[in-house]
Amino acid sequence: MGCWSLADRVSGLRPTAVNRILQQVRQLEGEGRSLVSLMRGQPDTPTPTHIVEAAIRALRQGRTGYPDNRGEPDLRRAVAEKLRRDQGLAYDPDREILITDGATLGVCAALGALVQPRGDVMLPDPIYDAYAAPIALWGGQVAPVPARVRAGRFTLDRRGFEDSWRTSPAPILVNTPWNPVGTVLSREELVDLMGFAAEHDCPVISDEIYESLVYDGRRHVSPAAVSAVARERTIVVNSLSKTYAMTGWRVGYCAGPEEIIRAMLLVLQQSSRGPATFVQDAAACALNSEQDCLRRMAAEYQARRDRVVERLRGIPGVEPMVPEGGLFVMVDIRGLGKSSEEVCHFLMRAAGVVVLHGAAYGPGGEGTLRVSFAAGGETLERGLDRLREGLTRLANGARLQSS
Ligand SMILES: Cc1ncc(COP(=O)(O)O)c(C=O)c1O
Repeated sequence: MGCWSLADRVSGLRPTAVNRILQQVRQLEGEGRSLVSLMRGQPDTPTPTHIVEAAIRALRQGRTGYPDNRGEPDLRRAVAEKLRRDQGLAYDPDREILITDGATLGVCAALGALVQPRGDVMLPDPIYDAYAAPIALWGGQVAPVPARVRAGRFTLDRRGFEDSWRTSPAPILVNTPWNPVGTVLSREELVDLMGFAAEHDCPVISDEIYESLVYDGRRHVSPAAVSAVARERTIVVNSLSKTYAMTGWRVGYCAGPEEIIRAMLLVLQQSSRGPATFVQDAAACALNSEQDCLRRMAAEYQARRDRVVERLRGIPGVEPMVPEGGLFVMVDIRGLGKSSEEVCHFLMRAAGVVVLHGAAYGPGGEGTLRVSFAAGGETLERGLDRLREGLTRLANGARLQSS
């Protein structure tokens, strides 16, 4: 027993599923087991050279002092221009944009500015499991909005929101493309969502971190872009982590009406004064340069997605769901008649491949596995061999083992 009497709020915090499983992976690897990980959402492509060069130039120019807490003006202007170019959205870089340390702090600052004590945050189920902890940290609680699977695709509909709504104004937190399920919400779905939000006076926090990874000719639409009214109640959260393979640079941004951005800045200043100045210069370079690298990355990840789906087809009781965007294939394993956690455990211990159980993302994810194609090449091929073999063994009646 230690001597620390920890703050009660800590009891509501949990490590993400990825971090929990990583501990097990390290332990097994320490025992000499060979594991292939198809778990993480970290692109394996390097940050494009022109972005790295911009950071080096900025460092050489001595851009190492405290940043403007709102974000360096050049980067805020680059973000405003990007949102105009991609979504037709106009934001004032001086008042309506905030630079954050990745989307993680963007979401955290938005929740900090909006969540009331014991207040609800409406959250789709299943969804990225790192949202629940900051909601708890700010004293709020999750009101789950169950997703429905229609035609092999997870969707949200108005009825789901109506059923889980309890009080107003409860912030709604969504992400599109949607981690883990891979749905890219269509304009019609977003109009529906924003209609509900307007009717119940709910602000919307929209995490759009996978926006550039959309497949088969789809286009990402921001909820803020569906109407002028929608823009007024939406906080757009984004980062350069996935789009430019910059996960370790810790740089992202938010856009929204002046009042909420001002409140978020106050929240953010209590934990961060923004990403390093030279990192912000590199981020401005990324957003201002030609965007060919994004098309190349999307084509590469689409090819990997196709490979995962192709390799996992034809196993009895197993059906890969084709994602419209993002870095993950959800695999429907309900036909195996075992829980997703048991199946993951078996796959890790008996087949040597690490994937995540869908239930880690909420009860609505039960019956699925999340397979990442963020790693490609040899890793993906070896991982898929092991996954196929492990799932086939289960389909043929192999017993689950726990050792
Ligand atoms: C939906 C979603 N939002 C946010 C993040 C974290 O973003 P960042 O690296 O910009 O903090 C992730 C990382 O996997 C994610 O999947």
